[in-house]
Amino acid sequence: MKRVRRFAKIVWTVAKYRLDDIAVALAPRRRLVRMLPWRLLPAASASPARRLREALEELGPVFVKFGQVLSTRRDLLPTDYADELALLQDQVPPFAAALAVARIEGRAGRPIGQVFATFEETPLASASLAQVHAATLPTGEEVVVKVIRPGVEQVIANDLALLYAIARLLERLSKEARRLHLEQLVADYERTIFDELNLLLEAANTATLRRNFAASPLLYAPRVHWDYCFEDVLVMERVYGVPIADVETLRARGADMRKLAERGVETFFTQVFEDNFFHADMHPGNIFVDVTDAANPSYIAVDCAIIGRLTEADQAYLAKNIAAFFNQDYARVARLHVESGWIPAGTDVGAFEAVIRQLCEPIFQRPLKDISFGHFLVALFRTARRFEMEVQPQLVLLQKTLLNVEGLGRQLYPDLDLWHTAKPFMDRWMAQRYGPLAIARGLLEQAPALIDQLPRLPELLAAAGTRFGDMDRAAAEQRDAMRALTRALDTRRRGARWRQLAGAALALAGLGLLWRSAAATAVEPTVLAGAGAVIIGVLLAGRG
Ligand SMILES: Nc1ncnc2c1ncn2[C@@H]1O[C@H](COP(=O)(O)OP(=O)(O)O)[C@@H](O)[C@H]1O
Ligand SMILES: [Mg+2]
Repeated sequence: MKRVRRFAKIVWTVAKYRLDDIAVALAPRRRLVRMLPWRLLPAASASPARRLREALEELGPVFVKFGQVLSTRRDLLPTDYADELALLQDQVPPFAAALAVARIEGRAGRPIGQVFATFEETPLASASLAQVHAATLPTGEEVVVKVIRPGVEQVIANDLALLYAIARLLERLSKEARRLHLEQLVADYERTIFDELNLLLEAANTATLRRNFAASPLLYAPRVHWDYCFEDVLVMERVYGVPIADVETLRARGADMRKLAERGVETFFTQVFEDNFFHADMHPGNIFVDVTDAANPSYIAVDCAIIGRLTEADQAYLAKNIAAFFNQDYARVARLHVESGWIPAGTDVGAFEAVIRQLCEPIFQRPLKDISFGHFLVALFRTARRFEMEVQPQLVLLQKTLLNVEGLGRQLYPDLDLWHTAKPFMDRWMAQRYGPLAIARGLLEQAPALIDQLPRLPELLAAAGTRFGDMDRAAAEQRDAMRALTRALDTRRRGARWRQLAGAALALAGLGLLWRSAAATAVEPTVLAGAGAVIIGVLLAGRG
């Protein structure tokens, strides 16, 4: 019943914000979309992108977060949509401290007075998934306690089911939606949102980040108090610092802004290339600055729920691409894409190079310090898609984080020369990985294994022969399986025709209901029932 109400609410919101405009843009030839009853209402005035944002905000946290994730897919979305979705804010009221206390007591198995020496009832911060309270341990250490919002798991599970239904419907109706891989986007989102719900994962990430920077003056991460941590409760050291967005205070405290900006870039490159573990939620609310030593300001990071990692191959690919890009060597950028297997081997490298050159030339008209590598990556991914490159989620995370880091850095110090700051770093990294010393080291490391294998060489060759035979057999089996699949699909298609008929009938009935309620004074439940019938009908009919 709840699901139905929620579904009705979505239909209602779609109608209220006239999101059918977007559906029509996505599927101009679908007559059913054009027949939606509210298309008779006057046209909306705000831009479709803005209406989409407002509708998502009204639908609540799961939709808001999904929109936020979508906003980072600048390689997929038109710019106006990405900009508008980036403005999404989840405004949720805090939940009662008593609920947080109950959760903590349930986990710890003792009254709150025995767990903490003090516990502040007014939260420090409250968001859609969790809420943060200040407390002190019996030892006197100051901590913050992050508690998952009660009941949020169920809400997420329900809304995700609806998101899947909507994504599937849109993919069925429109080629454009299929090109966006909407359902895949929802699946990616599902994984990250459930990761964020597991605070033990966040605790482990925080501890790793802290360990990675233990010997570095660049970044500090709070200490995790493991004895107090559970899947839904996280207790860590309370940190104090100036919020990074508070540039005025940073200046007033005499922080060296240039150094701070450069250290930001260095911190990012260290995380990506040396630790292969980067904080991928670099929005300003999660970053503070320690200005105790104003000449050498350093960073404090919280909220390590989302972490990015690259494979070693992707790291190398990225490093080489950055170098080629800044040397304006387009041919090399194009070749690297094919070599790394990112673009199918049959691609016309010449054509790809021409497109890359077209992309890069305008960028290089600007002084080096004004070039945004993040924006270049966005443009690159967008172009590469035309050449059938599938952009990996990890690289999207990287691109998003890079955009954030560049944005923050330039806000702190507008003249930040990203490339100049990063270059020595990249050179060092390349020399370590690909210099003559690295190659010699690699050979030495592998030598014992190679020598071990030598006596087995004839046997290995014989095995290879058998393997080829196996491959032939496997190919034949695959061919048979494909034939069986085609037959099965044909049978299914006949069933689909019936569903289409039933769906069309249901949609018509719904339209009739809507028509009647438009004649009388419109009653919301009837309108919703009618609209619901139309949508379900379209859904059914669309399944064919
Ligand atoms: N260790 C900490 N010390 C001090 N303040 C913290 C700490 N952790 C979080 N906060 C504050 O609480 C806010 C929300 O915490 P965060 O972990 O970012 O939660 P969310 O996942 O909801 O964004 C942060 O923006 C910060 O202001
Ligand atoms: Mg946060």
